[in-house]
Amino acid sequence: MNFSNLLADRTRNMGSSAIRELLKVVEQPGMISLGGGIPAPESFPLQLFDDLTSQVLKKYSSNALQYGPSEGFRPLREALVVYLKKSDIRTSVDNITITCGSQGVLDSIGKILISKGDKIAVEAPTYIGALSAFNPYEPEYIALETDYDGVIPESLEKALKHNKIKFVYLIPTFQNPTGRTIPLERRKKIAEIIRYYNALLLEDDPYSSLRYRGEAIPAIKTMAPDNVLYTSTFSKILAPGLRIGFSVGPELITKWMVLAKQGIDLHTNTFSQALAAEYIEGGHLDKHLPRILSIYKPKQEAMLNALAKYFPGNFQWSKPAGGMFIWAEGPSGFSTEKLYCKALERKVAILPGQYFYPHPGMGLETMRLNFTMMDAPTIDKAIKILSEVIKEELSRVSMSYS
Ligand SMILES: Cc1ncc(COP(=O)(O)O)c(C=O)c1O
Repeated sequence: MNFSNLLADRTRNMGSSAIRELLKVVEQPGMISLGGGIPAPESFPLQLFDDLTSQVLKKYSSNALQYGPSEGFRPLREALVVYLKKSDIRTSVDNITITCGSQGVLDSIGKILISKGDKIAVEAPTYIGALSAFNPYEPEYIALETDYDGVIPESLEKALKHNKIKFVYLIPTFQNPTGRTIPLERRKKIAEIIRYYNALLLEDDPYSSLRYRGEAIPAIKTMAPDNVLYTSTFSKILAPGLRIGFSVGPELITKWMVLAKQGIDLHTNTFSQALAAEYIEGGHLDKHLPRILSIYKPKQEAMLNALAKYFPGNFQWSKPAGGMFIWAEGPSGFSTEKLYCKALERKVAILPGQYFYPHPGMGLETMRLNFTMMDAPTIDKAIKILSEVIKEELSRVSMSYS
């Protein structure tokens, strides 16, 4: 049977994710993957899960296994109010929604806000999973210009001035894919612009806790609270398999997200929510986060050192103070798609950057490098091999490098 004639029109925009295809390749024996974007398994507190599980069963008994409200498990939302206050995000239980990962927020926002042809402003490049979440609702993307400090405020202002934008989507801290962070002054400018145009900003913040150097920078949510829907996740500070994400107000958007969730999945897994509540309430996050940072920091340093040691002079890369990714750019005309194929032959997987752009033909010379999965010596080896392949490619297309 061929059922393709049964598919809804919206599936036209639902291509298979390049990352998923790549993950299949990564599973080949002997492959060194800098292409994925998942946390290191050794960062999961396995022993602690034993304790959390028995504490949750003792504390909540059968309630931890029961259906729950679509808004989320109340003790988790209460714990998040206290947790967020430490980052100066002031909210109430009523404005917090618990979702199936922060991906759940991206999907329900697509569902309640995007009608076909609506304009959405996104960084170029941006998180591929957000494009996958929004695409079925058939938006038109306005690509915002970025530099080494993230989105350029003038580009945002121009987009809002000349277009009717449904919402702006940004990842201001240790962005996926670039690792870049918008500095404080630029955040203030962005908040001012968002407020001036009475726009809605979806601020996606999965990585800010993964800071290896420097001072934390406040979320844009703290600067324009009524205009920002803030979202974050337990995926990078506990374990992604729990699938616990959350969003913080505005009120009307929260109300509609809850209504949408009733049709999506009724509510997020109660047991996972109870574990997450116990994780923050019991002070376990404060104890475990330094361990996660101590795992990732040397890996990131190994990658930055290896890039400086091996990469050709006409390549540039981001030097983030945290997160999970480094973004590298070759000279104009260089193809990271070709590099991807050649590097695979040498058992190194990278992710070409073009998949992270909202429009085809952008970022052909860029790539995303992940440093959380491999150990430091393997990262050094992979970057060395990658540099050799790059140099071969550069000389093949007679490009000069120093
Ligand atoms: C920027 C960004 N947003 C959202 C997500 C989704 O994360 P989760 O659904 O696991 O919370 C990710 C995952 O890597 C991400 O990088």
